[in-house]
Amino acid sequence: MKPFQTVKDFLMKEIGMALLGAALIFFWAGKSWAEKPLEKAILIVAFGTSVEKARVAYATVEQQVKEAFPDHRVEWAWSARTLLGTTPARMPSTQQALAKLGADGTEDVLVFSLHVIPGREYHDLIQTVKAFEGLPKGLKEIRLGPPLLHDTDSLKAAAAILVKNAATARKPGEALLLAGHGTHHPAGIYYPALQYYLSALDRNAFVGTIEGEPDFEEARAAMKSAGVKKVWLAPLMTVAGDHSRNDLFGPEAESWKRRLEADGFTVECVDRGLGEDRELISLWIKGLKDAAAPEKIRKVSP
Ligand code: CO
Repeated sequence: MKPFQTVKDFLMKEIGMALLGAALIFFWAGKSWAEKPLEKAILIVAFGTSVEKARVAYATVEQQVKEAFPDHRVEWAWSARTLLGTTPARMPSTQQALAKLGADGTEDVLVFSLHVIPGREYHDLIQTVKAFEGLPKGLKEIRLGPPLLHDTDSLKAAAAILVKNAATARKPGEALLLAGHGTHHPAGIYYPALQYYLSALDRNAFVGTIEGEPDFEEARAAMKSAGVKKVWLAPLMTVAGDHSRNDLFGPEAESWKRRLEADGFTVECVDRGLGEDRELISLWIKGLKDAAAPEKIRKVSP
């Protein structure tokens, strides 16, 4: 082996090793900092869907939430108990997701409700969020955003976006029929309320619901008296999932499409959930931002 030729060569080699060591220390330290969870998170809570294709709405929402809150980590929970654990994604429940965020060291959580109206699911979510407030360990701040429709302003804004975007190929004289899930919860009043603001903008825009009021018969009667011949049928639901596929557009004689066709209407199906419309997502996010404003803490309860 060749001995070091000069003192200078020897020193250069030692300095080189020291620099390499320092670089390695910085690399590992940097890596562990990067792995430390962010303190702030957004938990998006959706009902969930068994229809793979319908999840495009969730992907669109997630992307837009990340753009609106770049310093927040984004997590998901599904509220449909029957769907939990059955999907490839193994979605956690809201409770599981909040507990995990707390255990991970997240201090500040904004809960983003992807519900359309403040019905039973949303009120369950209020209770869940309350249960995580003020625990000795875990989350320090937890705030809940409102569902899409939650006050006069949100109804007016949603009506304007829906009339414009829900069926862009619709021509004058053709109807837009927005099919909501519907509920027997008192918040079912949001559907007739939306009809009121839609009618103010477009006399051929109608709301119907699968499980509440106005029901299919009422919506059909309204379209008949308006004298429309062609109907653009669109789900008034976050995702175009199982209800769209079967109750609205399905091949069975009881589907809305088939019943309308049997009545002489021409039907165009809009296979797109509300969560695929960037303007509606912005409106939803506006509600979350309002709820997150410091002066609004714990004041969100439609
Ligand atoms: Co349902």
